Amino acid sequence: MSHPSSGSLLVTGATGFLGGAVISALVTQPRWPTVLLLVRGKTPAEGRQRIVESLRRFAVPEHLCDLVQESQIICGDLCSVPSFADDARLSGVTDVVNCAAIAGFGAPKTLWPTNVDGTLAFAKLLNERASLRRFLHVGTAMACGLPAPHVVSEAYQAPADAAHLVPYTESKIECEKRLRAELPDLPLVVARPSIIVGDTRYGCAPSPSIFWVFRMARALGKFTCSLEDKVDIVPADYCAEAILHLLDKPQLAHDQYHISAGEHLSVRYRDIDAAIAAGLGQPPTSDYEPVEYADLAARHREFQALFGPCIVPVMLRAIELYGEYASLNMCFANDRLLAEGMPPPRRFTDYAGLCARTAEGTTIAEQMQYDFKGISTRAANALRGMLRSSQPGPAETARKAAA
Ligand SMILES: NC(=O)c1ccc[n+]([C@@H]2O[C@H](COP(=O)([O-])OP(=O)(O)OC[C@H]3O[C@@H](n4cnc5c(N)ncnc54)[C@H](OP(=O)(O)O)[C@@H]3O)[C@@H](O)[C@H]2O)c1
Repeated sequence: MSHPSSGSLLVTGATGFLGGAVISALVTQPRWPTVLLLVRGKTPAEGRQRIVESLRRFAVPEHLCDLVQESQIICGDLCSVPSFADDARLSGVTDVVNCAAIAGFGAPKTLWPTNVDGTLAFAKLLNERASLRRFLHVGTAMACGLPAPHVVSEAYQAPADAAHLVPYTESKIECEKRLRAELPDLPLVVARPSIIVGDTRYGCAPSPSIFWVFRMARALGKFTCSLEDKVDIVPADYCAEAILHLLDKPQLAHDQYHISAGEHLSVRYRDIDAAIAAGLGQPPTSDYEPVEYADLAARHREFQALFGPCIVPVMLRAIELYGEYASLNMCFANDRLLAEGMPPPRRFTDYAGLCARTAEGTTIAEQMQYDFKGISTRAANALRGMLRSSQPGPAETARKAAA
């Protein structure tokens, strides 16, 4: 699709997983010279270097990396919007793809200042300074909170008191609500990916995010979900393609979309295990059984051997969170996105073997760090007490309420 704008496209979060996939698609397009990049870095040279490294993670050839110019870099942090507010280039921006966020499962102090206040300040600035055609904000499907339907529609409105497994998803829904309430004239389109795992061409090479969960379940031979439960996963390259599709389509029927596998292309844990096993030339897990979190926690002395050198409380927190999430068996309808002409994604099981092969050589614990940035050793140790408590988490509470 040719893009309908003559102004600049400003992309945030391009040093991250999804933003990296977005710019690796954009750098091959004729509009690349009009793309601006908000990057954390002290100088445009440092910002440029960070963007080039991000492109290299997606195997972008060097002659295309050479197309990145320092003049495309706006050095800036969402937590300090006034520091770049006077940049003259902002007035020429017509389109924004806002991928920047703290997306991990830690809860660093900068979570709310980045994902809520900073994002609001950034959108306000652009709305005032630029003549915007579209502000495409990347949300997350899990912003729906809990309890939620088994198949969450794109029109689903979460109740105000929805519970959240992690502060991250709570910050994301708060941001969306405030963008709509405080900037009613912002040409906002929210794209909410489900879970992004790997890339259909490069597996886990660009990012190991979430893939370690499947490795962990295989290493343990047990997890807290049934092998028949399904999970909604999309690859980063598909997600980037869908974002650019939603950005470029002149008219959209809605202002909120899922980028997801949906009910039909979500995959069972049984099939994921088999695909990973096939990718590695190993047998699938044979004596799998769903167990309680406490059963897995009781095996903590095996963790160093199974997962590699690790901070046990962080591993326990990961098992607890993903155990809760996995057993929700949720998926996210994508009827709106498909009706806009976007083709469906490939099933995760089509490229999970590639993900497994590209993850070899990295321990499970090392991979997991990617999603637990912001959890320090001290905070991890503090979690120990919390994990010993018998308080049920939000998912368990929601399940019990629904039972
Ligand atoms: N990954 C998933 O499974 C998933 C699923 C659903 C939705 N999403 C959404 O997709 C978006 C991108 O996620 P991701 O997985 O690509 O995350 P990621 O790999 O952690 O990348 C986050 C990006 O945001 C930037 N960033 C963070 N704080 C910033 C700040 N204060 N100022 C400016 N930039 C900042 C980071 O810059 P630095 O490199 O400088 O840290 C990085 O470029 C997020 O909005 C997330 O909510 C992701």
